[in-house]
Amino acid sequence: MKVTIIYGTDNGNTRDIATQIASEFDGKLIEISSANSSDFEDCDLLILGTSTCGYGDLQPDWDSRLSVLKEASLSGKKVALFGLGDQITYADTFVDAMGLLYDEVAEQGASVVGATPTTGYDFFSSLAVRDEKFVGLALDVDNQSSETDERITSWVAQLKAQEVLYQLES
Ligand SMILES: Cc1cc2nc3c(=O)[nH]c(=O)nc-3n(C[C@H](O)[C@H](O)[C@H](O)COP(=O)(O)O)c2cc1C
Repeated sequence: MKVTIIYGTDNGNTRDIATQIASEFDGKLIEISSANSSDFEDCDLLILGTSTCGYGDLQPDWDSRLSVLKEASLSGKKVALFGLGDQITYADTFVDAMGLLYDEVAEQGASVVGATPTTGYDFFSSLAVRDEKFVGLALDVDNQSSETDERITSWVAQLKAQEVLYQLES
């Protein structure tokens, strides 16, 4: 399975996580500031990562490169999302940017995989919660760094299991 991970980061936290996820999949790691539309297309599983900045905003590099994502042909593409945030300081906008990316790729017809439960987190509201689940992997390295490795391991296992099922079905 060819996996590409495209991420945007302010201070490097999302890069660290993206690097960890890439090594689990032996995937290709690309920063959004240098990605082009074909990078989004040329893989079996596309993983997109962003931190939430400002007050519930996309990481700025993602924001300024949204046109590249919009130009990509994502219809039917399997996409998984991860987002970094801070549930204590930003309890009203926790990992909102992951929800914003979700809206973008869903609008383009992508098949989003890798939703996760909200148990174990403590926040008031998040654009990344749909049908009572996060649309992807939510990480809070500011307040729950000890949970991070286990959350990544279990999410990666979930994505790999889904891929096996998909291969068996097709
Ligand atoms: C100025 C500022 C604004 C932030 N706004 C939010 C926010 O609205 N929601 C949230 O969940 N996290 C917010 N965060 C937390 C970051 O998303 C978090 O620290 C993340 O790990 C940063 O990752 P990065 O270094 O890859 O950008 C904010 C952090 C800063 C410094």
